Amino acid sequence: MKTTHPAPSNCVECTACPRLTNFLREVKTEYPDYYCKPVPPFGDAKARLLIVGLAPGMHGANATGRPFTGDYAGILLYDTLHRFGFGSAPESRSADDGLRLTDCRITNAVKCLPPQNKPETGEIKTCNPWLAGELEASPEAKVILALGLIAHKAVLTALGLKQSACTFGHGATHALPGGRVLVDSYHCSRYNTNTGRLTEASFHDVFRTIRSQLQ
Ligand code: URA
Repeated sequence: MKTTHPAPSNCVECTACPRLTNFLREVKTEYPDYYCKPVPPFGDAKARLLIVGLAPGMHGANATGRPFTGDYAGILLYDTLHRFGFGSAPESRSADDGLRLTDCRITNAVKCLPPQNKPETGEIKTCNPWLAGELEASPEAKVILALGLIAHKAVLTALGLKQSACTFGHGATHALPGGRVLVDSYHCSRYNTNTGRLTEASFHDVFRTIRSQLQ
């Protein structure tokens, strides 16, 4: 039987995780100008590339309402998207900066800001139907880029695949049913780039792989 998941745009009203909903309420009190709601996907609805991150950052996506926008992790990501022809500008500053993504859409495994940037296992699971709905609504998304292990696992769950179907590995590509390809990368977080776990060059290599998959 075909599963029908929630329509992707409705996630902004979601209050399914009490801990996250309460946290967003607290943060909104402290920062009244911040967005402080579930952050919906951003970009081209018919994109062939879907990028899956972890969750909004406190002073970035949670403040601006757009994935990776204002977050340190977004610096390398948006610059790389521009370099590889997916973005109209090398920076994403705010939700109204006019930036356009072409053939690319960005979403997160967890749509709400989690305390300490760490969503709980149950929250990742509860949020997963949104990602499943996004994938179901985007049959054109041929390449899925998972930024980090949590995103990798969330994509498998969202597609109804076993976790044993493929193992996360930076730069790895996994053929998925239906002709899709899952590409893995270390998350472009401040921690990973500052420690040298992820370099700009190796992130660019991942995008070279993606471009070759999209030819
Ligand atoms: N901002 C996001 O939107 N997602 C991440 O994974 C990190 C920062």
